[in-house]
Amino acid sequence: MLTSFFNWWVIVITLVNIFACYWLIKWTMKSRPNESAAGESTGHKWDDVEELNNPLPKWWLWMFYFTIVFSLIYLVLYPGLGNFKGTLGWTSHNQYDGEMADSDAKYGPIFAAFSAKSVPELAKDPEAIQAGQRLFSSYCSQCHGSDAKGTTGYPNLSDNDWLYGGEPDMIKQSILMGRNGVMPAFGAALGVKGVEDVAAYVQSMSGRKVDAASAEAGKAQFDVMCIACHQADGKGSYLFGAPNLTDKTWLHGSTASRIKQTITEGRLSKMPAHNEFLGEDKTHVLAGYIYSLSN
Ligand code: HEC
Ligand code: HEC
Repeated sequence: MLTSFFNWWVIVITLVNIFACYWLIKWTMKSRPNESAAGESTGHKWDDVEELNNPLPKWWLWMFYFTIVFSLIYLVLYPGLGNFKGTLGWTSHNQYDGEMADSDAKYGPIFAAFSAKSVPELAKDPEAIQAGQRLFSSYCSQCHGSDAKGTTGYPNLSDNDWLYGGEPDMIKQSILMGRNGVMPAFGAALGVKGVEDVAAYVQSMSGRKVDAASAEAGKAQFDVMCIACHQADGKGSYLFGAPNLTDKTWLHGSTASRIKQTITEGRLSKMPAHNEFLGEDKTHVLAGYIYSLSN
């Protein structure tokens, strides 16, 4: 909403401009005292090209009048003059809502029909997979990638490695309710040396060569500070979305420096909840598509 000053500012400038256009056309058409007669030379000549005093072609002139009338009619029907809403009551919101209602009426029954099947059944149904893939491209690919393989900080959904579980219900819950992955910062609690040691132990869990004494010191710390979420065997827990640290899949990067950064600064990852704009039926189809990628 514009303040009343800017409301009138916009209205006056818009209308003055439109009427100024009209006035300009009229003014240029007036004949003047020491002007040459219509059709005669004006006396201007460049490179053998002579300017004649011809009136504007009629069709050209009418085009100007038409745009002026069009703009006035438009400003009566649609918003444009300050805070005036236009007599049609059009807004981008109700246009969007109307289009969404149309598309729900059209596609709703298709998604509802899919909901009669289980997620593993949908994962074998080419039509459902295609529908799921389309939803994925519009709603999910910006974070998880068009091939669902993810990137640093955004999990790969096409492998069999899950933060929160790959069962149909878990996938659906991730999509509908969203997820918050919280890896606390341990820099202050561990100190630089402590982080170094724990990082060495973490790397040893996936079979990397590390300094044995450092890893051993790290294990002692790990068993106190980390196992509540990552478990004693380091395989993680779906309950907290704590990743498995013993495999070769890394959410936040596999290098020693990324691992140390994760431990020192912590990580916060947010998967937004999608229940509001997808609803149960579309989520079901999407879950079928994601399930098909790893099964
Ligand atoms: C704004 C970015 C973003 C968008 C959009 C997004 N996600 Fe996510 N998603 C994430 C992040 C980040 C995580 C990891 C959360 C964590 O680490 O706790 C995640 C996690 C998930 C998980 C859990 C993975 C696991 O390993 O358990 C699933 C399933 C998932 N997303 C599916 C989807 C689907 C389907 C869509 C589209 C409807 C979608 N996501 C859209 C960022 C996004
Ligand atoms: C409160 C539960 C919790 C505790 C305690 C915890 N973590 Fe984590 N950790 C997580 C979660 C959740 C993630 C995933 C963060 C995300 O979703 O972005 C994670 C991620 C990580 C990662 C990154 C893994 C990857 O795939 O990139 C490392 C490394 C890690 N933690 C190590 C540790 C170490 C070492 C400790 C103990 C000093 C520790 N964590 C304690 C919950 C925890």
